[in-house]
Amino acid sequence: MNHNHIVKEDLANIYSKLSKEELNKLKSSTILITGCGGFLGFYFMQFFSYFSSQLQIKKIIGLENFLTGDGKQWMQELEANYPDLISLHEFDVVRHELDTIPGIDEADIIIHLASIASPTFYRIYPLETLDANIIGLRKLLDKYAEKRVKGFLFFSSSEIYGDPFPEFIPTKEDYRGNVATIGPRACYDEAKRFGETLCYVFAQKYQMPIGVVRPFNNFGPGMSLNDRRLPADFAQAVVNGKDIEIFSDGTPTRTFCYITDAIQGYLKTLLHGHFDIFNIGMDKPEISVADFARLFKKQGEQVFDYTGKVDFKLSQDKDYMTDNPNRRCPDISKAKAILDYQPSISVEEGIGRYLSFLKADIKS
Ligand SMILES: NC(=O)c1ccc[n+]([C@@H]2O[C@H](COP(=O)([O-])OP(=O)(O)OC[C@H]3O[C@@H](n4cnc5c(N)ncnc54)[C@H](O)[C@@H]3O)[C@@H](O)[C@H]2O)c1
Repeated sequence: MNHNHIVKEDLANIYSKLSKEELNKLKSSTILITGCGGFLGFYFMQFFSYFSSQLQIKKIIGLENFLTGDGKQWMQELEANYPDLISLHEFDVVRHELDTIPGIDEADIIIHLASIASPTFYRIYPLETLDANIIGLRKLLDKYAEKRVKGFLFFSSSEIYGDPFPEFIPTKEDYRGNVATIGPRACYDEAKRFGETLCYVFAQKYQMPIGVVRPFNNFGPGMSLNDRRLPADFAQAVVNGKDIEIFSDGTPTRTFCYITDAIQGYLKTLLHGHFDIFNIGMDKPEISVADFARLFKKQGEQVFDYTGKVDFKLSQDKDYMTDNPNRRCPDISKAKAILDYQPSISVEEGIGRYLSFLKADIKS
């Protein structure tokens, strides 16, 4: 288990947000997590390990190809701490055969995270991104279609909405999107859209309890500083005492969701019991990228005695801003009403927690 005090508090926070029924449903499960070495995988793996006794978790099987995930060290430490519980495999969900994994048939909770999520990297690996969300997902669906799993969770994305027209912001689940089928982001956006369709068809045909989540900009501990998404870039600048660089005019707006609030929503969707799609994220405040950077600067001053400034630059990458949505803000009323989803960590508090985690991590 990770000894960072921020992670410990966060795991307790996530647990406290689950109902008795949800916790009961998790009991005695064998859990399969693909892409377990990435950002969200870090919290899922820590959560199920930390509460493995209370939840009588039988096994956690983690699959990871290390294409972008650099979590080898924490994963090996975790496996060493829970040798009977965790079984990790260097495995590609597209190219390798699931049946070669010991215990795979017993899995009754399936969490499919595997996919590059960072725009910088999916532009470098567009086919791998498509494949993980289409072929990798299809293999998992085929594998578990006729088994009686308790939950199957597919990670779609808020990117399936593309660049919504202003009247569709905040964006509800029934908005059909304004998405480009070609261009630098299409490999990600369209693969997620097709992945949702695959999930829908399998749920219809096999009555599988598939939950589809559309995450809206998560951040926090576990996000690698080399990830190249905004929170990682800003955190890296603060940690290294460099200026925070923004490669746009800083005006696009987003809401940002701290990792505990996100994982809470994912677990609730996973345990919902039948097919449905949920926006998971924070609905306020919708802030500009420039303001998000300023919050990193402010929290950085408190946590790291940071003295850098926020700087605006042009990206060397000509596709950096192509099809980048101008506004991104979810309507989360559906998840609140149906799942009792209750995100509660403000963006400022979340940034403070992320930086405090990094500070403690550097010291240890
Ligand atoms: N974090 C967010 O804000 C966010 C937002 C929208 C969607 N999502 C989705 O959630 C999921 C997890 O996101 P994340 O932030 O943890 O991403 P991440 O990139 O940190 O982690 C994904 C992991 O999957 C692994 N992977 C990629 N292809 C694989 C393959 N073929 N076989 C095995 N492993 C493979 C990568 O090496 C990486 O470790 C992704 O599907 C992502 O698209 C996340």
